[in-house]
Amino acid sequence: MEVLIYPNPILKCKAKSVEEIDEEICQIAEAMLDTMYDACGIGLAATQVGLSKRLVVLDVAGKKTGERVFVNPYIVEEQGEAIEEEGCLSFPGLSGKVMRSQSVTVIAFNLRGEKLKIEAEGLLSRAWQHEIDHLNGILFIDKMTPASMIANKQKIKEFELVYHDNNASF
Ligand code: CO
Repeated sequence: MEVLIYPNPILKCKAKSVEEIDEEICQIAEAMLDTMYDACGIGLAATQVGLSKRLVVLDVAGKKTGERVFVNPYIVEEQGEAIEEEGCLSFPGLSGKVMRSQSVTVIAFNLRGEKLKIEAEGLLSRAWQHEIDHLNGILFIDKMTPASMIANKQKIKEFELVYHDNNASF
């Protein structure tokens, strides 16, 4: 499983809801966790590995235990505002400041089909908002502060040049 790198157009697609939590979903989730840990990430959305499924893996503490796979997550409540630096596995080496809600409440299902209500703040809240954005085809550069955007303009352009070089057609 490979993480798609910006500006792969698949990253802009809105993922479809998971209709049934079956063996395939469990296997995908397992592979996504491996991919996330291999890349030293704290979260990964299925859109980032080219799958149109509302599926997220998240392990902010990196403890490799507890609930880490979330199906069809959505935010039901958000409060406050916070600007912090963040990065993304689809933009290796790039980071910038993004305004997010300070805290969020997320509803999601685990792989046993149980409904979960997650109250998140700080880094976990930020990670949730980042991953749910991925499911909606929204990238963190779309929300970066103007100053960070200016600071990263050249790096972003380089991602675009590399992608177009690698995908040139004649
Ligand atoms: Co990301």
